[in-house]
Amino acid sequence: MIKISERLRSLVKYINSEDKLMDVGCDHALLDIYLVQSNTIDKVVVCDVNPNALQNGINNIEKYELTNNIIPVLGYGIEKANIYHIDTVLISGLGSKNIIEILDGPNLNSIYKLILQSNNNHYELRKFLAEKGFIIYDEEVVKDGKKTYINIFAVRGEYPKVYSELEYEFGPIMSKDPVNLEYYRQLLENYEDLLFSTRSDEIRTKVKYLEQIIDSLVKANDL
Ligand SMILES: C[S@@+](CC[C@H](N)C(=O)[O-])C[C@H]1O[C@@H](n2cnc3c(N)ncnc32)[C@H](O)[C@@H]1O
Repeated sequence: MIKISERLRSLVKYINSEDKLMDVGCDHALLDIYLVQSNTIDKVVVCDVNPNALQNGINNIEKYELTNNIIPVLGYGIEKANIYHIDTVLISGLGSKNIIEILDGPNLNSIYKLILQSNNNHYELRKFLAEKGFIIYDEEVVKDGKKTYINIFAVRGEYPKVYSELEYEFGPIMSKDPVNLEYYRQLLENYEDLLFSTRSDEIRTKVKYLEQIIDSLVKANDL
């Protein structure tokens, strides 16, 4: 069985065997090889806009003899998703601006599940998802070296779900999970430094909100 990083492994739990999955920005396709080898899924379409990156993936797929299971596609974002009847899209290791560019288009209408892993601008990403009719079901903080990623698992909802501005910023789900206490403590420190240098009311509101999150997570940890 191929070895993959904790960052990639953290995405596996969101995938079901029935998903018609496309991994956009697959590069090496290591996650996809792991998904097939672990019997999580039998078929996956992998896509990259960069021919050299896609070739990395193709080399690995051939090395592990999975050419019947993993279909490589050269393309921009989800432009070719309809050809393969894709209903689930995974995008990992990219920033939110790039993820939004990849998803924003008519093909998103036929996508039911999104598994996204971004290392910045989570406010914009959550807001985009809500505007496009997705409900956030799970969020997870994942450390990878010096970078911190957030996994966002979202499913198309029948009724739109609207969050507050502060929930878009700090996470409607992850802010209720006690395992994230240290993450929010670190964030609070950063915002306190920012408040010290800016004296901005907007930052003050964020500091108060973060203090409330931390209080409730401490209480939940004590239970
Ligand atoms: C940092 S790598 C991430 C690789 C892998 N997903 C991971 O998590 O380790 C980002 C990959 O996304 C590809 N990419 C960037 N924008 C893209 C787009 N619009 N459509 C398809 N692939 C894209 C890049 O070529 C690159 O191979």
